[in-house]
Amino acid sequence: MSAIVAFFHHLAFVAIMLALTIEMMLLKQPMTVENAKKILRFDAIYGMSAGLILLLGALRVMFFEKGPAYYMHSGPFIAKMVLFILVGLISIYPTMVFLKWRPQLKQAIVPSIDHAMSRRLRMLIHVELTLLVLMILNAALMAKGIGYFGG
Ligand code: HEM
Repeated sequence: MSAIVAFFHHLAFVAIMLALTIEMMLLKQPMTVENAKKILRFDAIYGMSAGLILLLGALRVMFFEKGPAYYMHSGPFIAKMVLFILVGLISIYPTMVFLKWRPQLKQAIVPSIDHAMSRRLRMLIHVELTLLVLMILNAALMAKGIGYFGG
């Protein structure tokens, strides 16, 4: 069971990384109704995968790995959780922008997005991807017992 939970934990973070990368690539292209719909779809996949990785992560902390006492005394685990919250907060603004496109898309109108907004959204996604890479580093450190400060 712990291997299955670990597998889906990895799968969820691959889905997060892919969804964000595809969003960034679509934002670099000229905006079309089709591209805007794809961005909304991948943003929904991003949101669901983040929810899944949180649920699976909590299950791993509580029941399938080294036990909650270990993770509460793991510097890399705490850093990983702080980074997870940061990524979540940064993701709010792009999601709000994308959700505002829905009424226009219902009428098959291309959402208006200027160069500055497109750059800003891509920059935020870049920051999210960078923080996620730092999360993976911390995940590997905590899994190997590095940074443990318990007794
Ligand atoms: C986007 C968010 C996340 C990413 C990218 C991520 C990534 C990873 C990776 C790559 C590993 C495997 C580490 C290894 O075995 O070398 C891992 C393990 C783990 N993750 Fe996550 N994770 C995320 C969110 C979470 C959350 C929110 C929690 C807790 C609530 C969590 C708890 C764990 C636990 C307990 C392990 C097992 C570590 C061990 O083997 O001792 N993760 N994570």
